[in-house]
Amino acid sequence: MRPTIAPFPVARSRRLRRTAEIRALVRENVLSTDDLIWPIFIRDGENLREPVASMPGVERLSVDNAVQAAEEAANLGIPVMALFPYTDDAQKTTACAEAWNPDNLVNRATRAIKAAVPEVLVMLDVALDPYNADGHDGIVRDGVILNDETLVALERQALEHANAGADILGPSDMMDGRIGYIRQALEQNDFPDTLIMAYSAKYASAFYGPFRDAVGASGALKGDKKTYQMDSGNSDEALREVARDIAEGADMVMVKPGMPYLDVCQRVAAEFGVPTFAYQVSGEYAMICAAGQNGWLDQDRAMLESLLAFKRAGCQGVLSYFAPEVARLLALD
Ligand code: PBG
Repeated sequence: MRPTIAPFPVARSRRLRRTAEIRALVRENVLSTDDLIWPIFIRDGENLREPVASMPGVERLSVDNAVQAAEEAANLGIPVMALFPYTDDAQKTTACAEAWNPDNLVNRATRAIKAAVPEVLVMLDVALDPYNADGHDGIVRDGVILNDETLVALERQALEHANAGADILGPSDMMDGRIGYIRQALEQNDFPDTLIMAYSAKYASAFYGPFRDAVGASGALKGDKKTYQMDSGNSDEALREVARDIAEGADMVMVKPGMPYLDVCQRVAAEFGVPTFAYQVSGEYAMICAAGQNGWLDQDRAMLESLLAFKRAGCQGVLSYFAPEVARLLALD
């Protein structure tokens, strides 16, 4: 639709910008607490909070403290938490069996959270990297990341996560065919309502650095993830990936990272009209915090502006480590 443009002075754009009330009246997009998914990191132990050096304000939480965080989410009105494990190196193997251990960190945390605060939705990543001695999202043999063997492992992991009570599964590994494989397994094992938010357009990105520290995967990873995560130069390919994931049974799709790929968010949201999410990843978070800590920008304003961009691009919501801070600020409004 082409906007009608009247000439000056019939039209004066600044009439609509004169006061905060007028600006609010005509604002096209708003950020709300309902849009937020809060990713947290879980570690072993009790009553522990361990700061993540590269992500100021983010801590690895023991399961009891994760339950406390979920209670905070409920109080703040944050609808979803995404849980990521910091797995002990001793539990990482080339077979990645810890991924489908019914009592692994995220499964235990999910049970505890769902028991204490059932209204908070729990999302779990389906991917092998936190459990893999090779640090990759797929099973590695002779230096090759194996697609179809990985699907078998992902199915087992997905079923244990569903069994633990995860409301949303987030396959984040970028293996081919995984959404169809997981969807079929869920249907066959009596989990018809488990949601899938597919990391459909996930790029091989430098912006995941701090996350890999947070989950302790930086040391293990040999090489890069370019044979399965997408090439930064592509956006038509993102549309093909999304189309495939929807056809295979994804309920929601995601673009990741967020800010450097806003064009992709917009194309996906406009083209498919399915619930579309962005992941404002660890590196985006770290950049804003670092500049804020240096006094180079106003962190709260930069945070809110960076998140509103995803709404403008057409996303229904966003995963962000800023979620609790944003929810607190929005509650003051
Ligand atoms: C792993 C996974 C990654 C992130 C979410 N799930 C890292 C990666 O692919 O290496 C990144 C999240 C972030 O950087 O905040 N499957």
